[in-house]
Amino acid sequence: MRTIYLNAGRMAHFGSTGSVLDEQTYGPGKAIIVKNGLIEAIKSSEEVVSEWGLSTVRNNGFNKDVSVFDLEGQSIVPGLIDGHTHLIWAGDRSREVSWRREGKTYAEIASMGGGIQYTVRETRDATDDALVKLGYQRLRGALRSGTTHLEAKSGYGLDTASELRLLRLAEQLNGIDHLPTIDPTWMGAHDVPSGATATDYVESLLSEQLPAVVDQGIARSADVFCEPGWFTVEQSEDVLKASRNANLDLRMHVDEFVDGGGGDLAAALGVTTADHAYHTSMETRLRMDSAGVNAGFLPGTPYAMGDEWPDMDAIVEHDLRFTLASDFNPNCRTMSLPFMASLMVQRCGMHPLVALAAITVNAAKTTPHPSGASHGTIVEGGVANFNIVDGPNWEAVTLSPSDTPFSGTVLNGQYIAH
Ligand code: NIG
Ligand code: FE
Repeated sequence: MRTIYLNAGRMAHFGSTGSVLDEQTYGPGKAIIVKNGLIEAIKSSEEVVSEWGLSTVRNNGFNKDVSVFDLEGQSIVPGLIDGHTHLIWAGDRSREVSWRREGKTYAEIASMGGGIQYTVRETRDATDDALVKLGYQRLRGALRSGTTHLEAKSGYGLDTASELRLLRLAEQLNGIDHLPTIDPTWMGAHDVPSGATATDYVESLLSEQLPAVVDQGIARSADVFCEPGWFTVEQSEDVLKASRNANLDLRMHVDEFVDGGGGDLAAALGVTTADHAYHTSMETRLRMDSAGVNAGFLPGTPYAMGDEWPDMDAIVEHDLRFTLASDFNPNCRTMSLPFMASLMVQRCGMHPLVALAAITVNAAKTTPHPSGASHGTIVEGGVANFNIVDGPNWEAVTLSPSDTPFSGTVLNGQYIAH
């Protein structure tokens, strides 16, 4: 059984290197043929209509082997990929908005009993059912904004049993029909649990938590919050090297508040992605790039923290490979990648194609699809994950910061209306 999506409008996607120079904007009028959740072929609609004997574009001529969906000239972009989320947590920290506007810093709020520790307590107290329900609602919201796949970190457990539980719940949500697929990351090194010293906690991460996570077999990657006041460069290096020895892929949170050497460690270890990278010097970013490290920019963080925007012009001028992701967390409660792209395009002067590459083909390189097939681009043999823009032009993706810019999403070949 095939589904033929006929009469696409402008289609924007990228070659496999992800460089904007590889832009391939198909002219209007293409048809996408989907079989078994994969894109079988992309051809002109006229050719497909005659090849399949479709009597009209709206009618499959009563051919049982094919169903037809008329896109009526709506524009198409790949399924969006969110390479950095903290998906599962409970509780409400919105009171921190007032504290921030009253002048408190992130570290001060943490020392007042807010921040990550607050969410850890609320999350540990929540039932499995409550956390799964929250995860489910968030994933539905993400899909409505066009996200077809996302990375999801644990990290609000901070003890072995709680971290294993968060990974188990992520796995429970993975692969549910009509939800984005999930790439699970262990982030036991998100913070030091209250009552422990950093040295003791790192020791327990290495001797107990990491082996248990590996044994559980759910996490594909490990992540560390490498930042003065959280995990030092040396502690981060120990956790990351042990994780690499255990065959986990490596991700990092670096230089969110200061240039604390996290970016340098990311380059030295050649991790897959170093995220935030907000205060990282350009010299270090260039070194990261030569070491094959993706820079994961998270526009929702400066947005929610009220910080300056990063100098994205310099990053684009240096042709650094980078992604944009939501960093969905208790401080930044949106999973909308169109919103992230809007912020970059409308506030930082980024070209929409550059923003689109950062939430599709570039993100795919840091978080592969569970099937192993390519995603984040619209190619024959790739996963049939694409978004149908509600209009003829894909640039609308960067002009819809509130509601979804999409009339529907095709997820693993299945059409879902929004
Ligand atoms: O990526 N920086 C560390 N982790 C999250 C925020 C966590 C929190 O404040 O709960 C982030 O921004
Ligand atoms: Fe984060």
